[in-house]
Amino acid sequence: MSATPSFCQELTVLSCTGTKDSSLVNLVLENPGWTCRPGQFVMLRPLDWGTELVWARPFSICDISSHGLRIFFQVVGRGTARLAQLTPGQKVVVWGPLGQSFVLDNERPNLLLAGGMGIAPFVFLAKSSPAHTSMLFGHRLPLQEYPAFQEIATHIPSEAMQQCNHEDLICFEETLHERIKALSGVGQVLACGPEPMLRVVHKYCLQHGTDGQVSLENRMACGVGACLGCVARTTQGDLVQSCVQGPVFDVRHLDWGA
Ligand SMILES: Cc1cc2nc3c(=O)[nH]c(=O)nc-3n(C[C@H](O)[C@H](O)[C@H](O)COP(=O)(O)OP(=O)(O)OC[C@H]3O[C@@H](n4cnc5c(N)ncnc54)[C@H](O)[C@@H]3O)c2cc1C
Ligand code: FES
Repeated sequence: MSATPSFCQELTVLSCTGTKDSSLVNLVLENPGWTCRPGQFVMLRPLDWGTELVWARPFSICDISSHGLRIFFQVVGRGTARLAQLTPGQKVVVWGPLGQSFVLDNERPNLLLAGGMGIAPFVFLAKSSPAHTSMLFGHRLPLQEYPAFQEIATHIPSEAMQQCNHEDLICFEETLHERIKALSGVGQVLACGPEPMLRVVHKYCLQHGTDGQVSLENRMACGVGACLGCVARTTQGDLVQSCVQGPVFDVRHLDWGA
């Protein structure tokens, strides 16, 4: 997980479209020409944001290709509501690629564990996934609201794609537990989603000695290690900046109280 040089660029919006539910939005910006790795993120701040929205907002790189830099986000507050109103031709200041990426294991099975919008970084990752990759996706909204799931399914065999509606939380946790236990000593899990889900992943990885990486979505202000707004505690008792040393961490390094 070596550092990647990061850049600040003004990028043009190519499209900004909601899914049927319309709280989920696909934003495509012109391709900045960066070399990125799956799990890295960007900080976005449209040029027309005034002093009422000072800080840029962090988002996973959902995909990057000749079609552009794609972000898949959910409207949860003021910033994302404004981002959802972007129209083609507008300019967004983008810092990236930031942070540490997921590390795939080409020799052993990789289980991608996504909860809700945590599916975003796995679109990019699935493109480069080795043969033994599977996915478990937990979601609250209907599956068709997440076109990312169908895209990932074009790279991973359908029998290796499993999904579970979050409404049945017990079923999701039981399935997580079984899948993490089954990988003990033979593979690893890569997880992204809400913190309660990541804590469950952390608990079962430690319990069964399963290798795992989790991507934290701690709130961030600067995104580049200057404000201490995003710290996480490690098992050594240190506070680490999740924007620089993360957002992807080895589960064994995080102190969430086993
Ligand atoms: C590294 C990283 C990658 C991310 N990738 C994605 C992504 O791909 N897609 C996506 O939809 N979201 C992603 N997020 C979360 C996203 O940054 C927040 O939802 C967004 O910043 C909220 O901005 P807002 O102004 O709309 O919300 P605010 O008005 O600031 O807050 C509205 C509500 O959202 C909550 N909130 C704000 N930030 C976060 C956060 N980081 N985690 C959990 N709750 C939060 C607040 O507590 C509040 O309840 C990511 C966050 C990080 C740190
Ligand atoms: S967000 Fe400022 S140090 Fe991480």
